[in-house]
Amino acid sequence: MTKLDIVIAPQPVLKAPTTPVEGVDDALRRLLDDMLETMYAAPGIGLAAPQVGVSKRVCVVDVAGKDERPAPLFLVNPTILMAADEHETAEEGCLSLPEIYAEVERPLAVKVGYLDRDGEPRELEADGLLARCLQHEIDHLDGVLFVDHLSLLKRKMLLRKLAKLQRAKQRAS
Ligand code: NI
Repeated sequence: MTKLDIVIAPQPVLKAPTTPVEGVDDALRRLLDDMLETMYAAPGIGLAAPQVGVSKRVCVVDVAGKDERPAPLFLVNPTILMAADEHETAEEGCLSLPEIYAEVERPLAVKVGYLDRDGEPRELEADGLLARCLQHEIDHLDGVLFVDHLSLLKRKMLLRKLAKLQRAKQRAS
């Protein structure tokens, strides 16, 4: 497996809707495995293909805690089939927006349809952190970042902060 480079906002690939995958083959499985390794190394709990510069409708997720057994999910062509009417607000971050965090309101439970790593159709009902993470990753596949759920003012402020942090990082390296 290969660790891939993570794309940092603002890069056009992060804002572009992705192309659905036609079929799950070895090349796609390799991409999924590389994405999982990249996500674990970051470390993060979710990673969508646009975040490694690939505009395909696939993402990986693992919300298992540090002391829990890994529980990776590979989602090909995921879609949200149902979302709870009830919403909740919690803090989110994103590997493509390092050191930026904000409270985001989302449905607290979802049902997601997808193909797994073997190309088998599956459905998953989730709540809590997993539901939030799935929605965040599926957003990525539609070119939506978590800051896009915030007011324009708040979003601009956070993106300015990100740009400043990135400039400081470049100067330091
Ligand atoms: Ni993200």
